[in-house]
Amino acid sequence: MADQEQNTTSRDYHLEIPFRNQPFGLKGCNALDWGMQNRLSRIFSPQTGRTVMLAVDHGYFLGPTSGLERIDVNIVPLLPFADTLMCTRGVLRSTIPPTFGQGVVLRASGGPSILKELSNEEVALSMEDALRLNAAAVAVQVFVGGEFETKSIHNMTRLVDAGLRYGVPVLGVTAVGKELVRDAQYLRLATRICAELGAAYVKTYFCEEGFETVTASCPVPIVIAGGKKLPEEEALNMAHAAVQQGAAGVDMGRNIFQSQAPLAMIQAVRAVVHDHMKPKQAFEMFQDLAGISRKAPAKPRSTPKKVPAPRKG
Ligand code: 5RP
Repeated sequence: MADQEQNTTSRDYHLEIPFRNQPFGLKGCNALDWGMQNRLSRIFSPQTGRTVMLAVDHGYFLGPTSGLERIDVNIVPLLPFADTLMCTRGVLRSTIPPTFGQGVVLRASGGPSILKELSNEEVALSMEDALRLNAAAVAVQVFVGGEFETKSIHNMTRLVDAGLRYGVPVLGVTAVGKELVRDAQYLRLATRICAELGAAYVKTYFCEEGFETVTASCPVPIVIAGGKKLPEEEALNMAHAAVQQGAAGVDMGRNIFQSQAPLAMIQAVRAVVHDHMKPKQAFEMFQDLAGISRKAPAKPRSTPKKVPAPRKG
């Protein structure tokens, strides 16, 4: 009962100001519970509504992938530039400093290695452990069109149910087997299925034609995977095109950690995603940060004139 008497006279209740409700700006996420929205705010920057997720979970089926042999050496120095880290609980507990303050998205499906049928995954993480590790979301692979399509979708819906119980968003990751074409028609199908069945956001691949129809027809945010390693300028072009066509950011792995200068690359990707920097400028930024001299574009070589062969005889 400390200052009960003075309380009513000394406080200003701003009776003239109506209560302020701040809508949650992330696409399709307005009706989520506070805990979900709070976790998503650790993934998507509240300033830009976009994210640079650094994906380093490849080892869960590939083992020590090139660039991820020593996560303590190669990845930990990149963390200050990542909005979110996507990794397995094994790497998180063993290698990531607990002082890391941004969002962590935990790989929650797994089972088969690269040597087996990849779509035959199981749920590989309990929601209790995700909470114990203070995860911002969990990620599950969904193999639309794959051999174990229904099982992988069921993995996702089980995690969605558990996530809704505790306020943990689920990232649906559309995995595309070698036999499937990554065109807009397929990506629309796969991303929409994830969103309809409860994923809070979806990770998919970029496609050159019609990617804007993929983002338009998915009612929740889409982030793109980087895919196989490309020359840095091409990877920046892809990230830029994806964001311009409605992606809410990237979940990029190999194109960052297999770059010749990963620290420079992640900063250039950030500039494209958060500042809408043009890819040409971002590539120059990459070169400057990497200490690579910017070469003037090579002039086309003039074709050497044919010297007529000396006549014999
Ligand atoms: C593995 C994944 C990876 O996290 C994902 O593919 C992103 O990495 P990359 O940019 O290297 O493709 O989900 O299944």
